Amino acid sequence: MLRGRIIATGSYVPENVITNHDLEKIVDTSDEWIIERTGIKERRIVSGNQATSDLAYEASSIALKRAHLKPKDIDLIIVATITPDMAFPSTACILQDRLGAKNAAALDVNAACSGFLYGLHLANGLIKSGLHHRVLLVGAEVLSKVTDWQDRSTCILFGDGAGAAVLEATKEKRGIFSTHINSDGSLGDLICLPGGGSRNPCSRDSILKRLNFIKMKGNETFKIAVRTLEELVIKTLRDNDLDPSQLSLLIPHQANIRIIQATAKRLAMPMEKVFVNIHKYGNTSAASVPIALDEAVQSGRIQDGDYVLLEAFGGGLTWASSLIRW
Ligand code: ACO
Repeated sequence: MLRGRIIATGSYVPENVITNHDLEKIVDTSDEWIIERTGIKERRIVSGNQATSDLAYEASSIALKRAHLKPKDIDLIIVATITPDMAFPSTACILQDRLGAKNAAALDVNAACSGFLYGLHLANGLIKSGLHHRVLLVGAEVLSKVTDWQDRSTCILFGDGAGAAVLEATKEKRGIFSTHINSDGSLGDLICLPGGGSRNPCSRDSILKRLNFIKMKGNETFKIAVRTLEELVIKTLRDNDLDPSQLSLLIPHQANIRIIQATAKRLAMPMEKVFVNIHKYGNTSAASVPIALDEAVQSGRIQDGDYVLLEAFGGGLTWASSLIRW
């Protein structure tokens, strides 16, 4: 049976660090509140003209080098992002050009924080079908440019970054064992960016109403995220006939340490078996899972044969998971 396998990963975050203490100077908040309610201590923010494709390019170059592949060896590029460089061309097409990946088709996926796992579902499905053989999958975001720096309830949460994975077809009994994607569009207004599209085009009025920034009903989203992710991880394990004790590592989307702890508790997993880097980067949306995955691989927390569970929840609403045997 053909399936996709991640043969290499890479990640990149901008150098510029914004601490909670920096945020205390611009909104009515405190380091203690942010750490206690979210687990975030600092986040990375792009400088100047840096855009999403620039971060995607850095992460992709590292992943391709580690895979010992040239850009022309890739036949599909998928970029998961809600902060594309522009409406079109897609960020994936811009990345294809930067890399010189002349043999690749390129497309973007918009599923907010679940974007990388939606992309993994597509990449794995296309590999399994035999339509594509080597896929570059990237989650990349510059959320700092759509964050309302006057809104203390959201500006403390987000950061910028990119993570990439190179997938290849394999017949071995390892790789992507399952992917699960879900949506509920009726709850789209819980997290959205209403301005700049065809409903509320960019105008003086839309900017005065601050529609060009992320809006989130945090508390409602929090409760749904906890409940949904608890059900999702149990279903993912059940579909793979696995017991939580067989998992080597849980790699959750890094949105809030309390959501991560609740999911770990539902699986009765000790926090030592849960990958956490939210304190360094905050919520980087589609980049969150692939950055965490790359850091877990590079730090030796994932070894050959390990069962690893990835999960995410975000705007749409969307939620997704994947069970991988490394
Ligand atoms: N500093 C100090 N006080 C604050 C801050 C802040 N930065 N932000 C809000 N508060 C206050 C509120 O005004 C409120 O005050 P009140 O009680 O006087 O009204 C109080 O703190 C509690 O506010 P809540 O919103 O109820 O706080 P909560 O504990 O829910 O934490 C948070 C807020 C961190 C946003 C949490 O709800 C959360 O993490 N939500 C889920 C986020 C998520 O998973 N999003 C999905 C992915 S994002 C995407 O897809 C792009």
